[in-house]
This record gives sequence, structure tokens and C-alpha cells, in this order.
Amino acid sequence: MTALLQARNLGVSFRYGSRTSQVVRDVSLDIPERSVFAVLGESGSGKTVLARTLIGLEPAGAEVRGSVEFSGRPTRPARPAARRKLLGREIGLVSQDPAASLDAMRTVGAQLAEVLRRHERLDRRARRDEAVRRLEQVHIRQPEQVVRKYPSELSGGMRQRVSIALALCGRPRLLVADEPSSALDAIVGARVVDLLDELRCTTGTSIVFVTHDIGVAARIAHEPQDRVAVMLHGRFVEHGPAAEVLTRPRHAYTACLLAGEPSAAIPRGELATVPRELRDADWGPPRQVADGHWVCEEAA
Ligand SMILES: Nc1ncnc2c1ncn2[C@@H]1O[C@H](COP(=O)(O)OP(=O)(O)O)[C@@H](O)[C@H]1O
Ligand SMILES: [Mg+2]
Repeated sequence: MTALLQARNLGVSFRYGSRTSQVVRDVSLDIPERSVFAVLGESGSGKTVLARTLIGLEPAGAEVRGSVEFSGRPTRPARPAARRKLLGREIGLVSQDPAASLDAMRTVGAQLAEVLRRHERLDRRARRDEAVRRLEQVHIRQPEQVVRKYPSELSGGMRQRVSIALALCGRPRLLVADEPSSALDAIVGARVVDLLDELRCTTGTSIVFVTHDIGVAARIAHEPQDRVAVMLHGRFVEHGPAAEVLTRPRHAYTACLLAGEPSAAIPRGELATVPRELRDADWGPPRQVADGHWVCEEAA
């Protein structure tokens, strides 16, 4: 079976003068249809750069090696138009800061209608009804009123729901959610995670879910086909079936993360309980230790 998204030996680096900084190192992954792939790592480990590179949106100046394919096609098609088409229709993006994906100057309804116009043949009236329906799908109450509001009139949780509705307009087969709950308080954030979990069942979309919070990773990656990757200094030091990685970790770093406060987030910056030698070790390429379960060992 071909994966929806496949990466092989993906590397991303940035050049600063004569120095090169490797931000993503030798990442290979397969994301099947209807699955969650959670990328778990401390701040600065390379999660955002990886997520964006996977969908052909790497930052300017990034040097990319290796390959990424979406449904068997490269995700970095040469022509910008082809890339836009892939991004709008087949891949949706939800970022940590919904303000960044929403237009402050236009109403929620106008923004939904514009994206819907690109994807569906609907007249004005039908687009308006469809915008309301899309808000209902993300459980926004009183959607008829919300379509007339500007983003600044909504709470953070509502704004994130609107940006999820926008990302789903083209009925994408893949949604990339980069810390979608991290800017929200715990309860509101948990509801957004549960919403994404529900939507992947109802819409059948796969989700790449980026988080620094092990509790959040466990909350979203709970189906047998779901996978978790633990990222450290740009490497997947461990990745495999969610149930295996989160309950029977094979890498010392993952074990450290799990041994930290069970429900707590990895704090901004570094996790105090991880010994320096573990963090700074020179981790070699991943080796398969069980079916679909990969672990890096220390380079000799
Ligand atoms: N556009 C860029 N140019 C240069 N370096 C970058 C750029 N974006 C990110 N980086 C560097 O890549 C590393 C990983 O960043 P990022 O992917 O944002 O981490 P995370 O999302 O895990 O917190 C950081 O050291 C960051 O400084
Ligand atoms: Mg990030």
C-alpha cells in the first residue's frame, strides 16, 4: 500500500556565512491514509521546519536533501501553481497562532466563502449556508452570528476552530497541525485536540500533529495505525506505533520524557530531567528494532 505522505532521508539545513546548521537530520517516515503521525519534541528540536518541509513550505534559504512524496508525487513541484493546488485542496495547514492564518480585516464568513469559492461550485447564497455548516462542523455555537464577526471579536479557542474550518474547506486528505493547542489554555486546548480527533474520524483526513506535550501526543495518537516520532536536535531518535513508543519506549530519551511529570508539557526550552550526555550524544542513523519501530543508537 502506498503511503499518503512519504519522506526518505530528509535533511534541512541553513547556512550562516561559512557555518551550516543542520535542523532536520535523516528523517524518513510513512504516513498512511486515515492516521495520525505525532511529532513530539522540545522547543527548537526542528518540528516546525520539518512539518513545513514535508508540505513544500520550507522557510526561505532552507537547503533540503532527500525526498518527500504525497500520494506518490513529489511535494515540491517546480511550478508554484501546482504547489498551491496541492496545498489548498489536498493538504491543509493549522498553525499555533490562528491570528496568523486569519485576516483581521475580514469577517469569518467572508474568509470561509472565499476559500469555498476556490473549491466548490456554489452560488453566493449557497456559499453562505455552507460557511455556516463548516462552522457547525467545528462545533462553533451560533454560527449564523459568528460568520458576521471579525477574528478579534472571537476567543482564542474560537479563532483556532475557525482556522481549522478554513483548513478543511478543500476537504484535504492531510492536515498538518503545528502545536494547534499550545497557545490556548489547557481546557480549551484539550477541546481543540478532541475536535481534531473527531474530525479525522468524520472526514477521514490524516493528521501530522506537532507538539511539545507528551500528554497531547497520547491524546491524539491512540488508534492502532497511529505513530509517534520523538525528535531531538533534528533527528527522530525514536519512532514507531504510538502504543509502543508511549508505553514501551526503546530509546533512553523517550523514557526520560515519559518519566517526567506524566501529564505535563515539556517546558519551553529544555526538559530538566534529561541528562546532558543523553541530549548531546551523537545519535546515529535509525535502526529498525521491531516492525515499523525505529530507534537511533549512539554513533560509534
Ligand atoms: N528560517 C530559518 N532560518 C534559519 N534557521 C531557522 C529558520 N527557522 C528555524 N530555524 C532554526 O531551526 C531550528 C528548529 O526550529 P523549529 O523547527 O522552529 O523548532 P521547533 O518547532 O521544534 O520549536 C532552530 O534552531 C531555529 O533557530
Ligand atoms: Mg515550532
